[in-house]
Amino acid sequence: MCGIVGYVGSGAPSARPEGVVMGGLARLEYRGYDSAGIAVVTQDRAHVDMAKKAGKLVNLGKELAEHPLGEATAAIGHTRWATHGAPTDANAHPHLAADGRIAIIHNGIIENFSSLRAELRAEGVHFLSETDTEVAGHLLAREVLNGATLADAMRAVAARLEGAFTLLAVDSQEPDVVVGARRNSPLVVGLGEGENFLGSDVVAFIEHTRTALELGQDEVVVITPEGVSVTDYAGNPVAREPFTIEWDAEAAQKGGFATFMDKEIHDEPAAVADTLRGRIDEHGRLKLDEGLIDESVLRSIDKIVVIACGTAAYAGMVAKYAIEHWTRIPVEVELAHEFRYRDPVVNVRTLVMALSQSGETMDTIMALRHAQQQGAPVIAVVNVQGSTIAREADAVLYTRAGPEIAVASTKAFLAQITASYLVGIYLAELRGNKFPDEIAALLSELDSMPEKIQRVLDTSDTLREIAHTMADERTVLFLGRHVGYPVALEGALKLKELAYIHAEGFAAGELKHGPIALIEEGQPVFIVLPSPRGRESLHSKVISNVQEVRARGARTFVIAEEGDVEAADYAEHVVYVPQSPVLMSPLLTAVPLQIFALELASAKGYDVDQPRNLAKSVTVE
Ligand code: F6R
Repeated sequence: MCGIVGYVGSGAPSARPEGVVMGGLARLEYRGYDSAGIAVVTQDRAHVDMAKKAGKLVNLGKELAEHPLGEATAAIGHTRWATHGAPTDANAHPHLAADGRIAIIHNGIIENFSSLRAELRAEGVHFLSETDTEVAGHLLAREVLNGATLADAMRAVAARLEGAFTLLAVDSQEPDVVVGARRNSPLVVGLGEGENFLGSDVVAFIEHTRTALELGQDEVVVITPEGVSVTDYAGNPVAREPFTIEWDAEAAQKGGFATFMDKEIHDEPAAVADTLRGRIDEHGRLKLDEGLIDESVLRSIDKIVVIACGTAAYAGMVAKYAIEHWTRIPVEVELAHEFRYRDPVVNVRTLVMALSQSGETMDTIMALRHAQQQGAPVIAVVNVQGSTIAREADAVLYTRAGPEIAVASTKAFLAQITASYLVGIYLAELRGNKFPDEIAALLSELDSMPEKIQRVLDTSDTLREIAHTMADERTVLFLGRHVGYPVALEGALKLKELAYIHAEGFAAGELKHGPIALIEEGQPVFIVLPSPRGRESLHSKVISNVQEVRARGARTFVIAEEGDVEAADYAEHVVYVPQSPVLMSPLLTAVPLQIFALELASAKGYDVDQPRNLAKSVTVE
């Protein structure tokens, strides 16, 4: 949460630092949009020039158009997701200290800020905001006023802070320098020529360079136009290998679509195809991107625990059905924030899979660390290269969904299911649960999915029309069974977060145990109908559920497989998806529900890319 950008460049191709930072903030706005601000260091060493505004980045843009900042080589910028203090101009970052000599921005939560604030107040420091960030600014000020360089000051201050933070700071007395520090929050360095960049995420600078460095835990980075240096908090140099960012700048643009979310839904065939591409070697073995978990360890595991949050957890729930079926290893899916606090039974024979689009979800990071402390090997299924989860896991399988900018997750969901399936297939092969021809058949089923997802996208127009008639609905229910159950949960989540409509997903079999009491005349219910070609009883049981809600006045909207001749008899509207094996079907049935939520939110005039109160990377616990 909170997006952070830093830039230094002198006479460099990227021109004005202000423009570079605003461009980076625009691409990071998905991380938070309660306020935005920017500070530049003017070459006359006189002061830090700053602008900040509550609300979305557009407000800051207007402010800068009216009051441009001074010429500079260094700049820092911030887009906020509020934690400490309301989203006001005063609480917006940057925060100034030492009479405007120092400007600081922050992502995360400084947990010991109260005691530090009391200490500073006792010294006569006057606070202008309610944020935890401001204490770090005043601590930096104290150090530089005592003669420390900004880098030394940052090392001393970062070592005193507790919690999670990425901090960037500038000092008017060092106009060609931006200093950053991190603990438990992300910071990536972009390497240019005559210019260097800092960002919460590589999309902050992808337009300017595709060479990047990850910053490790408890490290401080100094960027100047000429170079980058990294140390630990004690000042010991740290060597870091650059990596090449696989995404291109175009992938972080809307590409002709009205919204990022629409574009990202249309990216789904490619996201699944890219996640599969080149992943299985000639022996049917999965090729991991980074790290390795010894095959003997994987042969000995007796349990898999998936840790994830939100949409990623629903992807994990889908994967449970497939992995258990293919490997006969029990799979538990645990919300990462619950996992750590309930003393879970995890040991060296437990394979933990951490699913995360951003790789920065704090709940998942903390659960991952807890699992590792118990000796469990952790494989990360992550979308963002160089992210914390990717770095800390024992092995990584990247989902290659490309940048997901819209706050609500869509293509990452499909890519997470695909990558988790690859892990399952690999384990089945390794442990001899499946014969080579069965493995080949599963891989070929997966291979056929991108084309089928494309067909769903090509036939989604009527769903868009239906959504536009439902803008006044107060509540929508979603039912599913087997793999359709997590899809129903995901459909409800999408509608809640985008259209601000109360929505709930239920296991269809659970309906009669209570939720059916909710049904009244006109209640819209979406049902993910299992294939009639699968277990016959499952299809007919869900058909019975459809009838039960219809009998009580519900309007039923059914997602059914092509060729399901019964579906139309029980539905006000049927969305047909191509036929597929049951375990592959979530890659198809989730798509109409995403489109429905997108369209309904658009019909209500809401910003689907940046729904209220949310942020894309939830980097606080
Ligand atoms: C919902 C959504 C969230 C995320 C969750 C985990 O649309 O995007 O529920 O899925 O916050 O995020 P990652 O996958 O980045 O760990």
